[in-house]
Amino acid sequence: MLPLTAIVEKMPKAELHMHLEGALEADLLFALSRRNNVAIRYETEDELRAAYNFTNLQSFLDVYYAGLTVLLKEQDFYDMTWAYLERTRADNVVHTEVFISPQAHTRRNIPFAVMFEGIDRALRDAEKRLDMTARLIIGIQRQFPEEAAFAMVEQAMPYRDRIAGIGMGGPEIGNPPGKFARVFERARELGWRTMAHAGEEGPAAFIAEAVDVLKVDRIDHGVRCDEDPALVARLRDLQIPLTVCPISNVKLKVYPDLAAHNLKRLLDAGLCVTVNSDDPSYFDGYVNKNYTGSQEALGLSAGDMYRLARNSFTAAFIGPAERQKHMAALDAFWTKNHGAIPRA
Ligand code: ADE
Ligand code: ZN
Repeated sequence: MLPLTAIVEKMPKAELHMHLEGALEADLLFALSRRNNVAIRYETEDELRAAYNFTNLQSFLDVYYAGLTVLLKEQDFYDMTWAYLERTRADNVVHTEVFISPQAHTRRNIPFAVMFEGIDRALRDAEKRLDMTARLIIGIQRQFPEEAAFAMVEQAMPYRDRIAGIGMGGPEIGNPPGKFARVFERARELGWRTMAHAGEEGPAAFIAEAVDVLKVDRIDHGVRCDEDPALVARLRDLQIPLTVCPISNVKLKVYPDLAAHNLKRLLDAGLCVTVNSDDPSYFDGYVNKNYTGSQEALGLSAGDMYRLARNSFTAAFIGPAERQKHMAALDAFWTKNHGAIPRA
């Protein structure tokens, strides 16, 4: 029997909440800055990393939006995506759903096609060469008007079959989900799956609004749901998954440390909680570090860890046959390396 940390690292899992621009490592960021002749504020990689010292979501977004300006060409988007895919595969991620924020690029006059094609080529290569599946989700930037989100949806039309869904990120405070009700309605008509960042910094009411008004399939973060017990009960009854990112929440000061995180309480309340990396380069933690860090800090049991991996497949935007295949592989791994399958 392997130690629990090794089990957690090696078990097959899905990652459902990460931003490709947030996986841009400092070395690639510098390489792209030189390759494209785009000036950045920092002289060295260490100086850049020293700026990864955030006080809240906005302080992170400022650094993140500045960093992504080094992305200009199709190959740049490919390189960023490929580096993440190889890295997450090393954490035994067998299915990933990645966010891109098209508006962060099209506003800089990077054509949607340039961005999309670089990413899509890397996702296809991962399916061929890394023995994994990878889907793309486009994210609305909530600080911009509804009209800009509609324009993004229009630009995505030629690629609609290669896009799994639509989400929403950016500064949450002051930008309630309801602002994009009509865009989400259109997305659902297109057959896209839907999700929104809610209850990361914003109140529990934003989570309820994302569920009731946007009719989302999943909530990204959602940790502040625990301020409203009736909402927790609804999320449990509806089994609306929460894609939780524990290290992100600590780095952005939602919690003082991992020991204070409510992940365990949410799991114990019967919610479909998953663990993800969010912006692994900026938060210094790919998905396995989120699992093992939470396990150690919160004293999560083997059963909890099994449940988190299983939930990642339950919440993934995949078909029933694929889901069954992943769950069977998880169970086979678990039986071989740990023992009996924990009961729900
Ligand atoms: N964009 C990238 N990471 C984000 C986060 N944690 N919250 C909101 N928008 C984001
Ligand atoms: Zn996020």
